[in-house]
Amino acid sequence: MIKSSGNKTKVAVFISGRGTNLKSLYYFSKKKNSKFQICIVISNKKYAKGLFFAKKNKIKSKIFTFKNRLKDELKVLKTLKRKNIKIICLAGFMKILSKEFIKKFRGKIINIHPSLLPKYKGLNTHIRAIQNNDEYSGCTVHYVTPKLDSGKIILQKKIKIFKNDSAKSLQKRILNQEHKIYPKALKMILN
Ligand code: GRF
Repeated sequence: MIKSSGNKTKVAVFISGRGTNLKSLYYFSKKKNSKFQICIVISNKKYAKGLFFAKKNKIKSKIFTFKNRLKDELKVLKTLKRKNIKIICLAGFMKILSKEFIKKFRGKIINIHPSLLPKYKGLNTHIRAIQNNDEYSGCTVHYVTPKLDSGKIILQKKIKIFKNDSAKSLQKRILNQEHKIYPKALKMILN
């Protein structure tokens, strides 16, 4: 559990693309009793759609390409320290953070993954679940450790895979659930 003193816990959200999970976290943070506030968005892509949302809603954002990972991670760490960030939410962030970076934020980085972990770590989770004729898929919020998609699970939502599901239709239904469980999981670890 993550304790913050008095005020709202300061959160950074890392993105690479659309940013729909960023949106859902942001709207949740604006609810009356929310315990966190999104203070910065970090993107490795200059034109990530989520950056437009951040700008529109006056959330600070910074771009680091991560082409030189160690150098950029040091810069990110400085930024996070300056802003007194206590939790990092990875939301469609497509870069792998170094062991050293993760250690510095041990137990304070969480991620949303579109499968029922430990099944289907990595990419293309929806098509893999369909091709394996799985009955269910879903999404998972978990702590980030140096081992990809393997940290302790905080919250998971299971949904049925329909016979006529395509990767796209399944992705859409799972994404809807992601938007619900990500803020919920964050709330849980802040209690
Ligand atoms: C989501 O499906 C998330 O589970 C995965 O990347 C996708 C990001 O979507 N890690 P968005 O950028 O939040 O819309």
